Amino acid sequence: MHYTDTGSGTPLVLFHGFCLDSRMWDPVRDGLSAHVRLITPDQRGFGRSPLGDDPPSLETVAADMVGLLDDLGLERAVIGGCSMGGYVAMAVLRAAPERVSGVLLVDTKAREDVPEAKANRLAVAARAEREGTAPWLADQMLPTILVNRSCDGIVREWMEAQPRESVAWAQRAMADRVDSRETLRGLDIDALVVHGEADGLMPVELAEELAELTAGKLAVLPGAGHLPPVERPEEFVAAVTPWLTAR
Ligand code: MLT
Repeated sequence: MHYTDTGSGTPLVLFHGFCLDSRMWDPVRDGLSAHVRLITPDQRGFGRSPLGDDPPSLETVAADMVGLLDDLGLERAVIGGCSMGGYVAMAVLRAAPERVSGVLLVDTKAREDVPEAKANRLAVAARAEREGTAPWLADQMLPTILVNRSCDGIVREWMEAQPRESVAWAQRAMADRVDSRETLRGLDIDALVVHGEADGLMPVELAEELAELTAGKLAVLPGAGHLPPVERPEEFVAAVTPWLTAR
């Protein structure tokens, strides 16, 4: 698995969102690496990590991430993720909570998909395999996910760089994911929830639910949509740093 590893101190492993790769953390890399050791993997199939031939499952992705902790010799780490990366973080919490010393959940949710959302994911997967993803997937997603539209160009570039098979695999894995509310409710792990105030994909109520389930703090970032680390990097670093350095 490909990953980027910068800074020193407390290990923080951040998982990227759907149709993106570890570059989504570039705008906050220096700011966070000034305080912690920041490790950002490319989820299988995305960026520079190969997809492999396992059937679609976020539990498989979680096993990859626990394997990465093993490879890095990290008994415990703070983990976190944005959106799909948050689903991966919740799957890691289910598989190996003893490896997690804190959890950062960014524009994500605990609930599984309703049937219409699952069906839509399967349709997106089939279309991606049939046609590739450029330009229709970014055309569909960007107006919903971004408030700071000056990020359109770079986010589209990242999205259109991802292989069609990986896009399809990840959609099927997300369609199949389990509800994580019980996982989070039973946790005794310090949590921070960060959410873009104007996230067009996931309303703030879903972040409030995460904060309630984890008994964690919630930071809502004005002027951000679904990708606060990309849209409002300085504000994101300012929201996360006190929590990170308090451990
Ligand atoms: C993401 O941004 O990771 C995905 O859009 C999340 C999702 O589709 O549920």
